[in-house]
Amino acid sequence: MKKLIKSGFSQDNILHYGNMFLIGNGHLGYRGTLEEYTSDEKVAFNVVGLYDKYLDKWRESVNMPNPLFIKVSSEDKVYSLLEKEAIEHKMILDLEKAILKRKTEFDDVFIKSERFITDDDTLCSLYEVKSKKDICLNILLGLDLNIYDINGPHFKDKSVERNNNTLLFRGITNEGKQVFENIVYQFDCNDYAYQNGYFDLHISLKTNQSFKIYVFAKVTMDNCFPLKKYNELKRKQVDRFRKLWDVSRVKLDAKSNIQFYTDYSIYHLLILGNDKYAHSIPARGVSGQVYKGAIFWDTEIFMLPFFTLTNPQVAKKLIEYRINTLDGALAKAKEFGYEGAFYAWESQETGLEACSLYNITDAITGIPLRTYFNEKQIHISFDIVYGILNYVNITGDKSVLELGARRVIEEVIRFIMSYSKLVNGKYHLLDVIGPDEYHERVDDNAFTTYMAYYAIMDSLDLLDGNLKEEAKVFVDKMWLPAIGNDGLIEQFKGYFEKEDATIDMVKSRLRCENDYWGFEASKTKVIKQADVLTLLVLHNDRFSKDIIKANYDYYEHFTEHGSSLSASMYSIAASMIGYNDFAYQMFLKSAMIDLGLKQKMFAGGIYIGGTHPASNAGAYLSLIFGMAGLRFNNGKLLLNPCLPKQIKGMDFKINYLGKKYNIVLKQEQYEITEVNDD
Ligand code: IFM
Repeated sequence: MKKLIKSGFSQDNILHYGNMFLIGNGHLGYRGTLEEYTSDEKVAFNVVGLYDKYLDKWRESVNMPNPLFIKVSSEDKVYSLLEKEAIEHKMILDLEKAILKRKTEFDDVFIKSERFITDDDTLCSLYEVKSKKDICLNILLGLDLNIYDINGPHFKDKSVERNNNTLLFRGITNEGKQVFENIVYQFDCNDYAYQNGYFDLHISLKTNQSFKIYVFAKVTMDNCFPLKKYNELKRKQVDRFRKLWDVSRVKLDAKSNIQFYTDYSIYHLLILGNDKYAHSIPARGVSGQVYKGAIFWDTEIFMLPFFTLTNPQVAKKLIEYRINTLDGALAKAKEFGYEGAFYAWESQETGLEACSLYNITDAITGIPLRTYFNEKQIHISFDIVYGILNYVNITGDKSVLELGARRVIEEVIRFIMSYSKLVNGKYHLLDVIGPDEYHERVDDNAFTTYMAYYAIMDSLDLLDGNLKEEAKVFVDKMWLPAIGNDGLIEQFKGYFEKEDATIDMVKSRLRCENDYWGFEASKTKVIKQADVLTLLVLHNDRFSKDIIKANYDYYEHFTEHGSSLSASMYSIAASMIGYNDFAYQMFLKSAMIDLGLKQKMFAGGIYIGGTHPASNAGAYLSLIFGMAGLRFNNGKLLLNPCLPKQIKGMDFKINYLGKKYNIVLKQEQYEITEVNDD
């Protein structure tokens, strides 16, 4: 498998590479930064599921102190890329093993390092300095307590205890949670001083002699740390990823760069799956605190299907998270005067809402702007039901229903009924926001309405008693968006009357590059992301190809793709209607989301950089549900291939109804064989 390799060093790329070279295990993430970097370069050792609020700032996930700080110097030189030019420098992400390496050659020394995060939560690193001449070096290494935070600091108390080469960090968050980071530094040198978490080593190296430093860091809520040997941990890591790739890789008969973009996307999902840990996956994965480390619909609609097909145990954990956070959703509904479960638009560990009322900042004045994502993006609850039903239908695993998913569904249905308003004899969902966030507070958004409608229709068999009867009566009276003679579905009431502006026209009206598009786009038909198209993709068996085509043709040129969730929905829809070239272009856009150096980093004044796992998952879905045309029908697997000319074949595995299948596709021909693990 091809590796991600970037040669050379530029200050301008530090932020992008931090995302691009991310490693993680679904619970911990470590950004793709170098050992000599500090909080200025946004080094982050991010913990999923641990959140904290500092003063009146946004509550966000917590970053731990950086245990991998190392800086090498000689009497007159500092071998840091921030201070000295290298002869050669490379960063290498080995996707197959989920190991990040660096190789840097300075005039006097070579520096090499590698790091990975094990599935039992240990960040492991090996750093090696090799001398080109006889030389005396100082190596400063240790725990950097100056933590990079967007809305921090998060530790009101920090202390570090030392026992020989072991450090025990103990932090108490502002919310009073106690967290430990246990770090073991292994090196062969007795000549060092220790101060405030840092070891200052003095070593002499002969020409070609090298010096190695091993670091093992474990974040725990207690302070125990059974340490294994580096090589043993590395062997386990390689083995674990070999098994993960075996069930998740999509092998393409295509040029190697297309295979690479696919592998890279899947890599970003594999470093997020964790079957030990019933937390979910934040919208920015483990890349840091952007979007408060919160969980959005990105998980259920984009990532969950990937895990459902490739690793159902992880998928089940994602569903368990929504079961465990039902109380938060019940509390949110109550707060707004509704019944049932109104899930948080931005959900943290308890399910309480993390989305602030002022979620965007004016890019010019810096004034926070009122947004209604929190109160009005009600589709999140229906997306969760969609995800649960999809999981049950694909895996056949009904145990999640008894674990609490049935209750989730019931409470979401209660919420739909209580949110809706009876107008002229029909129930409407008024004053909502659909996936397109540029048009806030609209009535009768087609996506929201249909997702609610099908959430009820598809769950009727799971209900009983009064709720079932009430739901039946209610759903019969639900207003459903009309489908015009031309096949068009209006995104929301009044959308067709909006200004017919182009994307370029809206762009030209922005006051500055980072201006919030919503101000201007809301007056026009320009939309942020696939909205009606997302509905048609998710419920493609319920809408004809003609309808999908009509809406694709209409909405495509109004869609800015300002959200990374947009392109994959267009790719899948394009495959369904034989627009193979578009399907391919949109697939690439999704798969390459974090590989470029031009990603949108700000919305208004808010930093929104980080990785985009929903887009990575969307790339996978574009291949499997779009181009390969995978469908499930009464216990049978079907394919309806529609390969673009750039992809001649595919080979992948999926789980369906408790069995594993290997699917080999060549142009229009395909073969499905059951895989016997024994
Ligand atoms: O969930 C998305 C939303 O659809 C668009 N804004 C960003 C969110 C997180 O990815």
